[in-house]
Amino acid sequence: MSDAAKTAPETPAATPESAPAPRQPRTLTVRVQRSGPGGSNARFDDFRLPVRPEDSVLDVLDRIRVETDPTLVYRHSCHHSSCGTCAMRINGRERLACITPMLALGADVVTLEPLRSLPVLGDLMVDMRPMFAHIDPDWGYVRPVERASTGVPHGVARYTRLENCIECGACMSACPVSNGTDDTPPPEPRRGGQDGAHPAASQAAGQPARDQEAPAAPQGSGFMGPAPLAALNRELARQPERREELLHIGKGPHGERHCRRHLACSRACPSGVYPAKDIMDIRMMHGGGKD
Ligand code: SF4
Ligand code: FES
Repeated sequence: MSDAAKTAPETPAATPESAPAPRQPRTLTVRVQRSGPGGSNARFDDFRLPVRPEDSVLDVLDRIRVETDPTLVYRHSCHHSSCGTCAMRINGRERLACITPMLALGADVVTLEPLRSLPVLGDLMVDMRPMFAHIDPDWGYVRPVERASTGVPHGVARYTRLENCIECGACMSACPVSNGTDDTPPPEPRRGGQDGAHPAASQAAGQPARDQEAPAAPQGSGFMGPAPLAALNRELARQPERREELLHIGKGPHGERHCRRHLACSRACPSGVYPAKDIMDIRMMHGGGKD
């Protein structure tokens, strides 16, 4: 049998989710963005290696680090889409490396880049603190065990899993406002001087911010981003008695007013959260869709 016959056919499908699983190993080029902190001295390094049908992008990165280049910087933990640490841009799209089958990408060259919107610490690892700076650590999540014990209340059709966010940052990277590719002008400050802001609002309420020294997002959009607003909307549902205080944050200078309805956040989310809907929910509370 010729080498060509042994090689899995090229898969035209662009998404690993829809592509049939290739059954034969293939030799691919993995093109990795390398840089120091802040994206300094950025370049691409190519690694050519055989990839097995069962290899995820994270498996391949692990092999490159162990067998070829121990200086490669990336982050991972659970290897099964639970921890959110391995999010990166894979052939230009935000994905979790641990559940992205390499061969199903259907490409001879797979390009790996760090998430956008968040400062690069090195190679494929970004600093998540600008995202967490806007998520109060006291905001609680509804846990499955809670709804199992209480059942579905009268008048509620079904539960939506509110705790789905794995804080991977994919939505932050995909959002054109957060990543600096949106070219519409920034919103005007609201009149009345009652803009809310986190962490200032939390401090006013006597709660310490999670990280006082978190750096700002590199593009300086001023937008807290989709994930913090999704978290805030979860908290609004959990603590309706704190509605005014929480809306003060959501409708403040870093909040929903920056959203330009690209919906890129919801498309990028690997965990079934729809941050765009959360943002719309907040927008529709007290004042509808008006700025
Ligand atoms: S909302 Fe989705 S994409 Fe955004 S951080 Fe949470 S899990 Fe990741
Ligand atoms: S390693 Fe935990 S989500 Fe990928």
